Amino acid sequence: MKIELKHNIKKIFQTFGLEISRYQTSDTYASKYALGYISAKETIHAASKSGLSVGDYLEMIWNQRDNRQIIVDQLRKVIVFHKNIKNICEIGTGAGLYAEKIIEIWKPERYESYEPDKDWAQWLAEKYNVISHDADGKSLCHTQTSSIDLVVANGVFVYLPFLTTYRYFQEIVRVTHDESYVVFDILSEDCFDDITIKSWLESHHIYPCLVCKKYITDFFLKHRFALIGDFFNFKYGAGKSQYLVFKKDSSMTQEEPLTN
Ligand SMILES: C[S@@+](CC[C@H](N)C(=O)[O-])C[C@H]1O[C@@H](n2cnc3c(N)ncnc32)[C@H](O)[C@@H]1O
Repeated sequence: MKIELKHNIKKIFQTFGLEISRYQTSDTYASKYALGYISAKETIHAASKSGLSVGDYLEMIWNQRDNRQIIVDQLRKVIVFHKNIKNICEIGTGAGLYAEKIIEIWKPERYESYEPDKDWAQWLAEKYNVISHDADGKSLCHTQTSSIDLVVANGVFVYLPFLTTYRYFQEIVRVTHDESYVVFDILSEDCFDDITIKSWLESHHIYPCLVCKKYITDFFLKHRFALIGDFFNFKYGAGKSQYLVFKKDSSMTQEEPLTN
């Protein structure tokens, strides 16, 4: 009975790939900062049995068919200078759902990925030819300063603790240059209206980490990023997340650099 209950609870948390467990790893940083994700081996095996790609398989079992396409279509409306997007960096790439679509559209010369789950990281490198960096769960330490045209994080800052998210924001500022774009989703104050919070509370999920949209836009503004787009997406078990799209604007005045 106890085992069955534990299994059911685990299944609920796994609904959208968000697990409560931390990684069992000898890497001290990753084990401290990285949160769990669905098993690569089991998912790849199940997808191949279904005859679908891993991305399509996950969209099917999560009842999220075409959702990636909807998000990517929204991004295409605001990220206009496609030819300038040669170097992309993704944080928490997971099963490559967005890498697959983004590579298809922007055909980057270089796609760097920071995925702390070693099995997924290895699979991503083999499947999509991405550079799977050794992820410490808090930095983009293998990426050169001012080298990235587009930074992407999908479904990551919705569950990382605030200070880990903040560390990544500092890193995003470092690795981008004057024409770069940044896209990620958050669970902002606008994602928790009365009806939605009720639905979260009834869902048994515990992962949502609220981060304030204004605080984040102010942070990026301080670093010369203008908010050029935002939209909601309803892919999470009980609620919605808010996507923010920033573009660095070199004409803005540079504020004092952040210290670590
Ligand atoms: C909900 S999944 C989203 C995966 C993928 N981006 C997607 O949308 O399908 C969250 C991802 O973040 C990764 N992750 C967890 N902790 C992390 C950390 N501290 N730094 C970077 N990635 C992390 C997980 O391994 C997982 O791949």
